[in-house]
Amino acid sequence: MRESTTRTNGPKEISWPEKSEAMRDISTTLNSALADMFTLYFKTKNFHWHITGSHFRDYHLLLDEQADQIFAATDAVAERVRKIGGTTIRSVAHIASLARLRDSNQDNVTPIEMLSDLHRDNERLTAYLREAHLVCTDYADVASASLLETLIDDSEKRTWFLVETTRETDGAH
Ligand SMILES: [Fe+2]
Repeated sequence: MRESTTRTNGPKEISWPEKSEAMRDISTTLNSALADMFTLYFKTKNFHWHITGSHFRDYHLLLDEQADQIFAATDAVAERVRKIGGTTIRSVAHIASLARLRDSNQDNVTPIEMLSDLHRDNERLTAYLREAHLVCTDYADVASASLLETLIDDSEKRTWFLVETTRETDGAH
């Protein structure tokens, strides 16, 4: 076994074949997903704060629930990376460098545009989480895979709510 010679700051008890390669690949995919989650969290909060119109209360509350759910999951992902001996996100600049989802700095976004934007982002996040799941299962990292399964279900639920909410208001202003 050639493990534990290159890493001294991580747990020693996690063992699987090719540990250092697994740690690198799983950390990379989880940190990218984590950066996307922070980006989506902030965009969801942004729209929670700036949404207007006749459905204000419903949308404002829906987006707050979704933002809370995303934020609550970030800690588990970051700590998972640490548990396998990797390092995780350190700064807002680090998030910006890793995230594939994009912020929204636009003014005067309509409610439907906000919900549609979040719908697309949650769908993309689901795809990224599925990619990460494949990496984890390749290395038989069942704990990371299990965590991701929950996150995928959450992301699909957010998408479902956004789709249905948008459908209900099609054609309305
Ligand atoms: Fe709020």
